[in-house]
Amino acid sequence: MKAAVFYGPHQPLKIETVADPTPAAGELLVKVAACGLCHTDLHYIDHDVPTAKRPPLILGHEASGTVTAVGQDVKGFAVGDRVLVPAVFSCGECRQCRRGRENICERMVMPGNHVDGAYAEYMVAPAKDVLHLPDEIPLVDACIIADAVSTPYNAVKNRGQVRPGDTVAVFGCGGVGLNVVQIAAASGANVIAVDISDEKLEHARRFGAHATVKGGEGKEVSKEIKRLSGGGVDIAFEAIGYPPTIVQAFDSLARGGRLVQVGYCQHPVQLNVSRLMFFEMEVIGSLGCSPLDYLPLIDLVARGRLKLSELISHRVPLDRINEGLDYLRQGQGIRNIVVMD
Ligand code: APR
Ligand code: ZN
Repeated sequence: MKAAVFYGPHQPLKIETVADPTPAAGELLVKVAACGLCHTDLHYIDHDVPTAKRPPLILGHEASGTVTAVGQDVKGFAVGDRVLVPAVFSCGECRQCRRGRENICERMVMPGNHVDGAYAEYMVAPAKDVLHLPDEIPLVDACIIADAVSTPYNAVKNRGQVRPGDTVAVFGCGGVGLNVVQIAAASGANVIAVDISDEKLEHARRFGAHATVKGGEGKEVSKEIKRLSGGGVDIAFEAIGYPPTIVQAFDSLARGGRLVQVGYCQHPVQLNVSRLMFFEMEVIGSLGCSPLDYLPLIDLVARGRLKLSELISHRVPLDRINEGLDYLRQGQGIRNIVVMD
């Protein structure tokens, strides 16, 4: 099969012919329809963040496709089924899995990180993690549910616990942040979106933001949010992963407010602990999405309650995946995907 192989940082992915994967017991062979290009891939390719499996490795963790073979002992799937492959496979046995927190599984396996992923014509995935896609959701576009939509869903619903009437600020309106905006708005919150790009702020308004603030350095951004929200927001989401905006997000909160960190950041960040303590603030992280949240999420998309196709800007064939990654580097578009032929 054809695949885009990662050989190490600071080099383009190489399009090669590699052996077709074969499904082991309990696994499915999936013919990939499409895979989202995610910022996480740029962490590996551009910023020396190591992959769990050393290269050569096929990246790609946001896939949809069709089942083409079924491993031994698999129940509930047949050849031809339209499926979503989530970004993380959980072990189902560790302490976190048994507490219902599979997204922080102690032995999680991420395609395109621990094992070969979806920048290829075929991939294998454990049947227990794979989800059926209803006919209402276009197969190609569905891929981005696996991370760009599901990660914000967990952040808004479980970690942020956004309720109707809450006031929310979202820092960063990229693929992740825009979905935080649309899911928080769909949850009945009043949403203030922050970005340095006017184009992204325009998108944010289309996806349900009630107000927007042009980002920048310093204290002005938090002040403006406090002014717009009458003293600070209840919940702030940081979906960039940049120390100054993490501080701005914390400083935008009202008393008793909650900062939900969604963006990945390698650096330490200083927050005002006196404020944290005196005003009972919360600072919490959010990672991926639990398997139990996928069914309601897929249902929301199928019923048109969340926009999906509108999130996809560029569609590139596998041969041109490095161009797609360049669009991502340049901040072009909302979510760019690789479409297999
Ligand atoms: N203030 C406000 N917005 C900013 C700033 C800033 N100082 N710097 C960058 N941004 C905006 C960009 O303009 C862009 O719209 O943040 C957005 C980041 O979006 P993407 O690059 O599309 O990244 P995305 O895929 O959304 O991921 C965001 O979440 O899961 C993590 O690893 C991922 O850390 C990354 C983060
Ligand atoms: Zn586990």
